[in-house]
Amino acid sequence: MVYSKDNPFQARLKYRARITGNGSEKDVRHMVFDIGGSGIAYKCGDSVAILPKNNTATVAEILNILKTQPDVQVKLPNPEKKTSIFSALCEHLCVMNLSHGFLEWFTELVTDSDEISYINDKMLCDGQECKMAAKAYSLLEILKKFKNLRPVDANALVANLNKLTPRLYSIASSPMMHRDEIHIVVNVVSYINFAGNERHGVASTYLAQDMNVGIDSANIFVINSTFALPTNSEAKIVMIGPGTGIAPFRGFLQERQCLRASGKKIGDSWLFFGDRNRATDFLFRDELLNFKNSGVLTNLDLAFSRDQGKKIYVQDRIWENREELWSWILDDAYIYVCGNASNMAADVDKTLKNIAIEVGNFDETKADEFFKSLKKNKHYQRDVY
Ligand SMILES: Cc1cc2nc3c(=O)[nH]c(=O)nc-3n(C[C@H](O)[C@H](O)[C@H](O)COP(=O)(O)OP(=O)(O)OC[C@H]3O[C@@H](n4cnc5c(N)ncnc54)[C@H](O)[C@@H]3O)c2cc1C
Ligand SMILES: NC(=O)c1ccc[n+]([C@@H]2O[C@H](COP(=O)([O-])OP(=O)(O)OC[C@H]3O[C@@H](n4cnc5c(N)ncnc54)[C@H](OP(=O)(O)O)[C@@H]3O)[C@@H](O)[C@H]2O)c1
Repeated sequence: MVYSKDNPFQARLKYRARITGNGSEKDVRHMVFDIGGSGIAYKCGDSVAILPKNNTATVAEILNILKTQPDVQVKLPNPEKKTSIFSALCEHLCVMNLSHGFLEWFTELVTDSDEISYINDKMLCDGQECKMAAKAYSLLEILKKFKNLRPVDANALVANLNKLTPRLYSIASSPMMHRDEIHIVVNVVSYINFAGNERHGVASTYLAQDMNVGIDSANIFVINSTFALPTNSEAKIVMIGPGTGIAPFRGFLQERQCLRASGKKIGDSWLFFGDRNRATDFLFRDELLNFKNSGVLTNLDLAFSRDQGKKIYVQDRIWENREELWSWILDDAYIYVCGNASNMAADVDKTLKNIAIEVGNFDETKADEFFKSLKKNKHYQRDVY
């Protein structure tokens, strides 16, 4: 069965638990979706795309301000279909981030000259400040800020909003252990934006707070990835995954546990995991320690960045273990990196190259070429976001 954005599978949310402890600054959830009977065949390392929904109370408030009945029919483009304005705003359109085009259209609705000047001067002009200000308002916030409006045509509103896009999550389970389930690990996004407004990530909030466990289903489809375990179960693997980057490696370790139980030999494995504080952010602590105690996981190195004055990151642990890690690399180990793309992945990459230079006696060019060839033959794979 092939599911897609336009033909998703409705997967019931079976289980959800917060896996960061009391007092953690982060809210991270382990969630399980039921895919029984769907025909979905996934593999470790794949991602699941989830079509989020906007908060229904927010949408009701928007329609209330616009004095628009929820059942007013509107036309959605691509693929063209008719639906109610309520469903369009909940399921199909982005109401949190507004485009430049939306603001231009919206300005024409505003009747107060001071408000028009404000939008033109502070939100639609060139420059970084303006861009930030334009991004700072959600649809509800802009309707609350600029109150004097001409009547809003529901179809014009729909035509001026961006589409709500699917969000990807690394699958955190092995189909060998959980054939009828897809597990994910979700960091619930929340922050204060440029305008001082509290912002909650659309998909992560929908998954963590709006969905009812055992009752609601999410529209999902699987995205096959080249980020995958080696076909040879005896190959050595090195997994580097701080924060939510742990997700695919939980799947990898489950898979190796199942392979071993079925009589196959499994190779050595090494996990570098890190997060803010050991007491509250050691995600899947008991499971990881069990993998280690049972020998499914050979080496476990941890980096809790905020447990001491000076930050310690996974790449510091990698560097401390550089001699042994280099011997694994020379022994044809597969290296995997998953998690934050902005800094972590680049810093880990730099550390690996430095190991090749210091321990392997490579010069910079040779180190670059070495890792390029590792990437080419799938011995160095990254799934970063
Ligand atoms: C291949 C892949 C795998 C992924 N796997 C996972 C995973 O396993 N677990 C996981 O949790 N996520 C994962 N993600 C990220 C995930 O897809 C979503 O992007 C994430 O959950 C946020 O979506 P959201 O709808 O909740 O937030 P959105 O509503 O999309 O808001 C996020 C946006 O808010 C802004 N923002 C966020 N924080 C701040 C801040 N502090 N200050 C200012 N602006 C900020 C940024 O512009 C950011 O892009 C993955 C992404 C990819 C591409
Ligand atoms: N806005 C929020 O509420 C919020 C909160 C957390 C994460 N996020 C975002 O959500 C996404 C997923 O978060 P996550 O849980 O996977 O990870 P994360 O919270 O970004 O980080 C996990 C661990 O990686 C550390 N880290 C930071 N910079 C690093 C670097 N350059 N190299 C190696 N390690 C580094 C962090 O340390 P330190 O944090 O101590 O530096 C932390 O210990 C990220 O893109 C992140 O930006 C948002």
